[in-house]
Formats: sequence, structure tokens, C-alpha cells
Amino acid sequence: MIIRWLGHSAFQIITNHNLKILIDPFISNNPISPVMVEELSTDLIMVTHGHKDHFGDTMEIANRTGAAIIANHENSVYLSKQGFDSLGMNMGGTVEFQDIEVTMVDSSHSSDMDFMDEMGAGGSSCGYIIRLENGRKIYHSGDTGIFGDMKTVIRDIYHPDIALLPIGDRFTMGPREAAIAADWIKPEILIPMHYNTFPVIQQNPLEFAERVEALNASIKVVILEPGEFYEE
Ligand code: NI
Ligand code: MN
Repeated sequence: MIIRWLGHSAFQIITNHNLKILIDPFISNNPISPVMVEELSTDLIMVTHGHKDHFGDTMEIANRTGAAIIANHENSVYLSKQGFDSLGMNMGGTVEFQDIEVTMVDSSHSSDMDFMDEMGAGGSSCGYIIRLENGRKIYHSGDTGIFGDMKTVIRDIYHPDIALLPIGDRFTMGPREAAIAADWIKPEILIPMHYNTFPVIQQNPLEFAERVEALNASIKVVILEPGEFYEE
């Protein structure tokens, strides 16, 4: 299985059964994207919320590849009206897609569809727990501030093995909060995201890794450059 960072909160996951997943495919306007949007193939796109730095190129990619889309109910209704195969869901629910399971979990953020000329109401932003065919669980938090259910619901119920958390600050948790969130969630592997895309979310991921190590040395922080991947 590989988890490839495409910059910002965009990730490509390719499972051992060669199922291809894209999360928050913000590619064409992403200044640190290592790929062209036309290069990406996928079976499934997952969107955490309607902000343009997450919703991104969802429609272009789905249009070209025929990929299914998982999104919150409100974004899903919008996508369905545009003619896309969208699997709408809401907090706490789980859907199966081929041999994986996806559970939608809370995030502490907003979600209006800001890519429209007149901003559309986009429901609630979310995170996802992805349970792979081999039992490994990946948590993509979406944009979020720290919230107490990371310690209870996310950790106690879902036990993610791999967590993808924002560290950019300003619009999400910063390194201080994300390190505490990491200790609450206790994943084996932690990959930071949503930083160094723009000057306002500039962060040093090495300093973040030191903060995590100081709180919980059993968590391995994997710092990726855009285009690099974690493999297991
Ligand atoms: Ni956002
Ligand atoms: Mn964002």
C-alpha cells in the first residue's frame, strides 16, 4: 500500500489490491502539486469539505476517470445535480466501496462551497477513517482544529494506524495543537499536511516532529515532500 502526498491535504492511496483513492484533490491551483491533474487516475475521490483547496479538481477528475465520489450530503447533492456518481454520507456513517470501508467522522471547521460565484452552503466539514482490505486504518482529518473526540471517538473507537493531520495553523491546528492531537490519537505513523502551500501556513515539519517526539516517542512522524510516498 502506498500513501503519496500531492501537497496540501491531497493524497493518493493505492491499496494492495490496486484500488486507487484520491483525497481532497486540490491539484491545478496548488502551487506545490507535483503532478498535473491530467495524469491522475483513480477509482474513488473523497472530499472532506467544500473549500476550494480541498474540493479542488474533483469534478474534472471524476468527469475524465468516471471515479465515484464520497462527500458529505450537501456536497453530494450538489455533485449529483452536476451529473456525478456521488455517495453522500454524514457523521458516524460507514460506506463500503469495493473491499474498503469508509467512515465519516467529525472535524472542527467550516464547509461552504467557496468555489462557486455565490458561495453555496456545504454542510459540515468532516474527516474520514478508511479501513483497508488488510485491516489497516488511515485517518485523514480534513481541515480541523483540535477537539476532544479525537481522544475518545477517533482513538477509542477507530484506533487509526496512520493519521494525516494538518499543521499549518491559522485555518487549522498548528504544530502545538497537532502534536497534542497526535498524542491523543496515538497512531503508529503520522504524516503532517496542510502546510507550506502558501506563505500564511508556513511551518517547519521537523520542529513539529520534535514536538510529537517530546510528547509521545512511540509515534513515527513521516515527513514527505510533495510527490513522495509512504509505503508498507
Ligand atoms: Ni477548509
Ligand atoms: Mn484548507
